[in-house]
Amino acid sequence: MSGLELNKLFGAVLVAGLVGMITTFLAERLVVADSVGTVAHPVATAVMAGHGGDTVSGGDTAGENAPAGPEPIAPLLAAADIAKGKSLSRACAACHTFTEDGGHRVGPALWNIVNADIGGADGFSYSAALAGLEGVWDYAELNAFIANPRQYASGTKMTYAGMPSTTDRAALIAWMRTLSNEPAALPVESP
Ligand code: HEC
Repeated sequence: MSGLELNKLFGAVLVAGLVGMITTFLAERLVVADSVGTVAHPVATAVMAGHGGDTVSGGDTAGENAPAGPEPIAPLLAAADIAKGKSLSRACAACHTFTEDGGHRVGPALWNIVNADIGGADGFSYSAALAGLEGVWDYAELNAFIANPRQYASGTKMTYAGMPSTTDRAALIAWMRTLSNEPAALPVESP
């Protein structure tokens, strides 16, 4: 084989490798985008995961094939440990206030955050990553953001690594729900 042919061969192998890497990267992004896009129906997903049980198992014990999005918290909220959620909020308190008249710190005030507009607090200067997101902080969005802020909103200035435990996120978000004069309804399981 001539040197030229060898070069072509190496070139082809390189290109194949690159294409593989790019496809994997894109596939991962798409799965994330999809899981964020479908969280509008967390209960349906949760019910499926609940009954599908072990075969679908995601979250803490997830295998390599588990979807990139976090395990849904909707089915756990009603029975979540609110006192535990309050103590978990210490991880956030360095940057956030949670009281009704609490102001912004490094992060925006979080009183009445459930169902509030994403990036919508007056007087806080959000990153473009968060300011550019549409929608409200419903349970599914909060779940995805708190599980992994940077995966949820790449470029966010919330430098918090994320809360991997699904029961912890459910407890924390169940407590955050109470921080309102009119707490949002809990998710209803569809019949
Ligand atoms: C190191 C500081 C820091 C910590 C710790 C932190 N945050 Fe944040 N948080 C921020 C910043 C900064 C922003 C604004 C992000 C942006 O603009 O990209 C933010 C934004 C948010 C938002 C969006 C609010 C809105 O108005 O849209 C929520 C919800 C939130 N944080 C919840 C939490 C919770 C819950 C915890 C604890 C588990 C936590 N954060 C821990 C700094 C922090």
